[in-house]
Amino acid sequence: MSEKNPYKYNGDTLILENITDNNTNKSVYIESYGCAMNFSDSEIVASILSKNGYKTSDDMYNADLILVNTCSIREKAELTVRKRLEKFNKVRKTNTNVKVGVLGCMAERLKHKFLEEEKIVDMVVGPDAYKDLPNLLEEIEDGKSAVNVILSKDETYGDITPTRINSNGVNAFISITRGCDNMCTFCVVPFTRGRERSRDPQSIIKELNDLSEKGFKEITLLGQNVDSYLWYGGGLKKDFSKASEIQKASSINFAKLLEMCALTQPKMRIRFSTSNPQDMSIEVIKIMAKYENICNYIHLPVQSGSDNVLKAMNRQHTRKEYLELVENIFKIIPDCSISHDMISGFPDESEDDHKQTLSLMKKVKYSFGYMFKYSERPGTLAAKKLEDNVDEKTKSRRLSEIVDLQQKHSLFRSKQFIGKTVEVLIEKESKKSSSHWAGRNQQNATVVFPKKKFNVGDFVNVKVNDCTSATLVGEATGYSKNN
Ligand code: 5AD
Ligand code: SF4
Repeated sequence: MSEKNPYKYNGDTLILENITDNNTNKSVYIESYGCAMNFSDSEIVASILSKNGYKTSDDMYNADLILVNTCSIREKAELTVRKRLEKFNKVRKTNTNVKVGVLGCMAERLKHKFLEEEKIVDMVVGPDAYKDLPNLLEEIEDGKSAVNVILSKDETYGDITPTRINSNGVNAFISITRGCDNMCTFCVVPFTRGRERSRDPQSIIKELNDLSEKGFKEITLLGQNVDSYLWYGGGLKKDFSKASEIQKASSINFAKLLEMCALTQPKMRIRFSTSNPQDMSIEVIKIMAKYENICNYIHLPVQSGSDNVLKAMNRQHTRKEYLELVENIFKIIPDCSISHDMISGFPDESEDDHKQTLSLMKKVKYSFGYMFKYSERPGTLAAKKLEDNVDEKTKSRRLSEIVDLQQKHSLFRSKQFIGKTVEVLIEKESKKSSSHWAGRNQQNATVVFPKKKFNVGDFVNVKVNDCTSATLVGEATGYSKNN
């Protein structure tokens, strides 16, 4: 490692002492795709690079480094990235010295193959290897290519303060777990992001306080499976059984962490995502109900309403268990909104299985949904063991039936707010009108209303008088008590 590198890196631990910003005036252009975790990771990358003299830039034609943080969840996501790489190749015609690096899940999935398949790529870095970026950059500056796709059992980036790129100064992500141990048969995530591990709660609270000081008003605790959060001094979730009795007794689960966050910053709104049905406890729902600043919204993917399909997907819950959980949520938090992820056309999905999905949706009446056609991912258990045998036309037809039903339910849920006053945190100008603000209420519904005297970051009360399936429309009546 050369002298100019401000990080001390001993192979698996980054030592943060003696860091001095070296002002090399280099610029990095970062594009992110996929889930919130990827966007959050890009902020970690920006922070690491800033210590190495890189400023973020939105001008790819003059940047020294282009990074693309990639997603592998569906084939379409990977195709999007390949298209962007074609674009970056064109940029190279004028910006001849620029280096191109691929980060994230596609980097992890394809590893060295990326360099062969996409000749324009100089550097391939997996999600657990970002602290090695300063060293990898040195290698590519010497004209070599560089790859680090080692997955870690303890990396959480808890010691890095993210640089909030593209931030509105109001909402921020705090990542609390990395990886996933669920092994849903369709999902590439356990292979690209490794085993599940939780971040030190002290570093989470420190980041929360730091965001509050900087004026942020709402945070989202992020993880592939937040409800499975478990801190017992570090290490993998699956190794918890090997922890000492003292470690076990003083461990912190998600309900405790959520409560700590709510109590530490009572004026900030707290959200979290994503919840897995089998890990969501009644304790968590009760903590949500107890603290006003924890938003009444749960993203609770189900993937299918059929027990046959859930089993083939290796989901750790049945339809009945899922519906019981939903019932408990509504019992404890009657005005909670719930959203889902759903997949149409999983291998062997019959017409009856699909009908079960529609019937489950009718029972829950989700407020929102993220709906996808099944996309076979190389290396997953489904790809190895199950034939992708639902034809494209059937997948599409089933998906549109799911989407149409969701539209109806979203409208139904939106209409419940008409005539009511909701608290909205103003996030940005409405896309459709420069004289309107847009923000969200606790239940994650987008609300638009005339700007009047209010500003981005204000908590305001809005009387809802109209709606579509996606948006509530209203009139601000004044600041809310949380302002
Ligand atoms: N095909 C389609 N959708 C998928 N998802 C994950 N893997 C696949 C796949 N192979 C969806 C799931 C998950 C969301 C993040 O992406 O619904 O909850
Ligand atoms: Fe993938 Fe399942 Fe983990 Fe979600 S819970 S990331 S769908 S394996």
